[in-house]
Amino acid sequence: MGIFYDEKNRIFKLDTPHTSYLMGVEDDFGYLLHYYYGPRLHGTDVSYLARTGEPPYTPDRNGRDKLSFLDSAPFEYPTGGVGDFRTHCLEVCTAAGHNAVEAGYRRHSIRKGKKSLPGLPATFGGEEDCTALTVTLADDVLGLEIDLEYTVFEDLDAITRSVCVRNTGAKEPVVYLTKVLSACLDMDDRDFELLTLHGSWARERIIQRLPLGKGRQGVFSERGETSHQAQPFLALLSPDATQTGGEVYAMHLVWSGNFEAQAEVDQFDQVRAVMGVGPYHFRWKLAAGESFQAPEVVMVYSRQGLGAMTRTFHDLYRNHLIRGQWKDKRRPVLLNSWEGAYFDFDTEKLLAMARAGAELGMEMLVMDDGWFGDRRDDNRALGDWFVNEKKLPGGLKRLADELNAMGMKFGIWMEPEMVSPDSDLYRAHPDWAIQVPGRRAGLCRNQYVLDLTRREVLEYVWGRIEAILTSANIEYVKWDMNRQLSDMGSFALDSDRQGELYHRYVLAVYELQERLCQRFPHVLLENCSGGGARYDPGMLYYSPQIWCSDDTDAIERLAIQEGTALVYPLGTMGAHVSACPNHTVGRTTPFETRGHVALAGTFGYELDSTRLTEEERAQIPGQIALYHRFNDLVRAGDYYRLASFRENHAFDCWQVTSKDRSAALVTYVQVLAGANRHSRRICLQGLDGSARYRLEGTDRVFGGDTLMYGGLPVEPMAGDHRSKLMILIIEK
Ligand code: DGJ
Repeated sequence: MGIFYDEKNRIFKLDTPHTSYLMGVEDDFGYLLHYYYGPRLHGTDVSYLARTGEPPYTPDRNGRDKLSFLDSAPFEYPTGGVGDFRTHCLEVCTAAGHNAVEAGYRRHSIRKGKKSLPGLPATFGGEEDCTALTVTLADDVLGLEIDLEYTVFEDLDAITRSVCVRNTGAKEPVVYLTKVLSACLDMDDRDFELLTLHGSWARERIIQRLPLGKGRQGVFSERGETSHQAQPFLALLSPDATQTGGEVYAMHLVWSGNFEAQAEVDQFDQVRAVMGVGPYHFRWKLAAGESFQAPEVVMVYSRQGLGAMTRTFHDLYRNHLIRGQWKDKRRPVLLNSWEGAYFDFDTEKLLAMARAGAELGMEMLVMDDGWFGDRRDDNRALGDWFVNEKKLPGGLKRLADELNAMGMKFGIWMEPEMVSPDSDLYRAHPDWAIQVPGRRAGLCRNQYVLDLTRREVLEYVWGRIEAILTSANIEYVKWDMNRQLSDMGSFALDSDRQGELYHRYVLAVYELQERLCQRFPHVLLENCSGGGARYDPGMLYYSPQIWCSDDTDAIERLAIQEGTALVYPLGTMGAHVSACPNHTVGRTTPFETRGHVALAGTFGYELDSTRLTEEERAQIPGQIALYHRFNDLVRAGDYYRLASFRENHAFDCWQVTSKDRSAALVTYVQVLAGANRHSRRICLQGLDGSARYRLEGTDRVFGGDTLMYGGLPVEPMAGDHRSKLMILIIEK
């Protein structure tokens, strides 16, 4: 494993356990061309794949047919304005108004270990488990240098990439960057299909798979957050790709704002996949001596289908992205007040809920929205981060102390990025909201976005967070963000820097969350954005879990959690058991099913625990015992998607197996009952084929190979929305 440079042929070879990635320097201009990404190769004799020896685009005739060359050669980092008419990664505007940028190889370095990216979330790794390469390209006309940064991990089939653009000052005092994507993947089309995750509020990250056609297609966000609607992820699949076989090229962006993820099929049936920060209203002033760091893209290639891709992302994110004290720990079983009480609570109500929850085994009360200022409803008070003593006499400390005395931990909700027009903060500082002077800014959930790019605003917000978190024993924070960005204008930025606002906003959020992680390392942080509008690898760097969706209905959650788990580890998915009829869709599902579905995530409750039925009260201790028994497995194990209700319209099934393959937990949800049916045989995956497994609670013992190739029998159940957990333990 590692990175090699074939000096004679000027080829870079990046190897992971099962994949190779090759690029090289072309002789004529010094362009860095992409040669190959796929199954592991022995040698470096791949430059013919770039077709530089074929007409009409031979580089030695660059002078005459340069555009033919630029418009079809496979570039490692394509630039705009000089004749590559496909989508590019780098676009600029000079002070004179020109947009041409063209980059050739200058130098490179290879080293052990991975550098962090200043101000940005990124995967990490030490000298023992990763190797990094920097290839520097340069445009001598503009005096720009471009560092392409690559990392390979010792034990994972993942490669990460990022880009840093520098204005050396040798030619231009200022260059405006108008597009800086982080990665490009050029290759031949193989009748690929494009898989993306789409959605909306309460139905995030739904898998969509379509044939890849000619032209440009993809997903993007121009909402200032990664969004409910799109995920900064794309995968190109061979048409035969399934969970267990076929080719997958996947890209995922470690970023939490506007993005672009695009695949383009050109006139020669070549594919160009690109990913990075969205160019919408992006214009970054790069003065002499300054550099711009673009975020990281994770690339995963799998020849064993989507399942292997998923497990690579899970391992990478669990071991090289998520940080902090809670990373590998079982999280407390929480009782969140939102769906149980909404804004209608006081200390007594919360204590009563906590008492009822504690009796059944719940471990932490999370006080959601409504505890500060005059926050009676969602029309006011965001920004007024002072305890409402009418609701909570004695403040947070009294509440926390009383909870702690009954053995419950205390967590709190905040939405630090926002301000309500009806708030003391807005009345004092109307200019602190993002807005365009002279234009009435649009409201969303009756709130504005604070301009965190202003130092005084950021410091004020940080001051309130710090004061609150030091005022009582608060062990968890749910950091919410309930609107998209619009009316982009900042009083702090010069006119030629307004195009930096989207980007600087995300950097400011990162700065605040980094401070929180450093100052309060014991606090468990859960990111949230009106459900899952900012469920992205960027936020995962700061919080080990993210609220998956405001839709807590067990059946709706099947597709949401399936799409989320396609890339994200199960232990990151905020999932709660809530009351029925479900508050979002009005559906009634068995309490047991709600528990089984939530066990695939962080697990907790979000209901009024003082109003449980006897039957629910009877079930909760058992559910919590299951959580304690299986959460280590769910958090750290290998995940297999066995069946999808989204596809078969009848049932859903997934499996988590311990890394040593000694135990497997299979969750089966029969969404719709059918008449006169045999048992279903579900073929398990990832077991030890030569071992024997006992199905817990029965005297049935199966061969691991039989379970994988013959299948585990699942009897039909009476009624819709029923579920069962099947536990298989290896026989010694
Ligand atoms: C949106 C979140 O997703 C909910 O869980 C809840 O915290 C509300 N905001 C509170 O306003």
